[in-house]
Amino acid sequence: MADDVVNLLSGHPPAAALPVQSWAAAGLAAARRYRGTPLGYGPAAGPAPLIEWLCDRLSRTDARAPAPDGVFVTGGASHALDLACAALVRPGDTVLVDAPTYFLALQIFADYTTDVRPLPADEGGADPDATEALIRRLHADGRRVALLYLVPTYNNPTGRSLAGERRAALVALARRHGVVVVEDDTYRELAYDGAAPPSMWTLAEAGEVVRVGSFSKTVAPGIRLGFLTAQPSFVDSLAARGYLRSGGGFQASALTMAEFCTSGVYVDHLAGVVALYRRQRDHLVDAVRRHLPGLAFDVPHGGWFLWLALPEHGDSVKLLPRAEAGGVSYLPGPRCFVDGSGGRYLRLSFSLLPPDVMAEGVRRLAAVLDG
Ligand SMILES: Cc1ncc(COP(=O)(O)O)c(C=O)c1O
Repeated sequence: MADDVVNLLSGHPPAAALPVQSWAAAGLAAARRYRGTPLGYGPAAGPAPLIEWLCDRLSRTDARAPAPDGVFVTGGASHALDLACAALVRPGDTVLVDAPTYFLALQIFADYTTDVRPLPADEGGADPDATEALIRRLHADGRRVALLYLVPTYNNPTGRSLAGERRAALVALARRHGVVVVEDDTYRELAYDGAAPPSMWTLAEAGEVVRVGSFSKTVAPGIRLGFLTAQPSFVDSLAARGYLRSGGGFQASALTMAEFCTSGVYVDHLAGVVALYRRQRDHLVDAVRRHLPGLAFDVPHGGWFLWLALPEHGDSVKLLPRAEAGGVSYLPGPRCFVDGSGGRYLRLSFSLLPPDVMAEGVRRLAAVLDG
C-alpha cells in the first residue's frame, strides 16, 4: 500500500497503544520475582501464575470461570486455532465457518482440510435451525463435521454479537451432533458500551466448546500470547503434543505477562486502550454518517471494525483499485466469506489511525463512490 493511502484496512493497534515501558518493567520484575524460572523450560500448558490470573480475570469478564486445568496458554489466538484444528480436524473433514468470518482463520482451516464451508447465516449471525439442517445433510452424505468456527462477540468483520438464544441453540446442536464449536473470543475485553455477553463456552458442558482468547488486542500482538479454555482432557491432549516435549510452553513471555497482569498494570492499561478505541469508534461512526450517509451499518459495541453495506449492486472488490487510486484502502467483504460472496460489504478498521486521518479516508471513499 502506498504511503499516502489512508489505511482503513488493517486491524492493528497504533504505536501509542503499545505498553513499551510497562512491558519492559514487567520483564524485569518477572526476572526478580521468578529468578531463572522464566528462562528455563516450563510446564506444557503454561505457567501457573498466568493460568491462575486468567481464571480470575474470566470470572470477572465472563459468566463463569474455567478451572486451571481447563486453560492452555498459546502463541496468540492464531496458534490456538491451529492447535484446535490439529486436535479436531482430519483431512477430508468438513469445517463450518460463520459467514462472514475472520478472513485469516480461513487459511488455518485450509491447512487442515479442503472442505471449509459457510454455515447458514442472516443479519443476526449464524442461524441455528438452518445450521442443524445442514449438519444433518452433511452427516447423511457420510461427511464428518469436525468443528463450527464462530466469532460470536464483537465479530470480525461485522462488529456484531450473536444473541443469547442463538448461542444456546448452537451449543445445544453441537451437543446433539457431536460437533465442537470453536469460539473465537479475541475481542471480549474491547467492550465499549457495557459488559460483553457471556461466552458460548460458559453455556457448554464438557467438550462442546473450545474458546480461544488473545493478548494481541489488549496488550500487544508482537508478544504472541493467547490461550484457550476447554475441558481438561482436551487441554491434556494438547499438552501431550510432541512440540512441547523438548521445551514446554511459552515460559518467558507468559511469566512476563503474569507479572504485567497480577501487578495491576493490565487493568490500568486496558482501561486506557478501551477508552481510546471507544473514541476512535465514535470518530469513525461520525465520519461515515457525515460523508457516506447512504451506507448502512450497525454501530459496534466492541472490537475494531465497522461493516458497511454499499447500495444495492455495489461491488467492494471492483471498487478497491479505484479507492486505492483515490487514496484510501479497506477490506472488501468477499475476503470474509469462504464462498467469495458478500460483494456489497466492506470492512473499515478504527483501531490504527488518528481521527483526522480516518475522516480524510472516509471523505476520499465518498469521493470515489460519487465519482
Ligand atoms: C477474530 C480474530 N481471531 C484471531 C485473531 C488473531 O489473533 P492473534 O494475534 O492472537 O493470533 C484476530 C486478529 O485480527 C482476530 O480478529
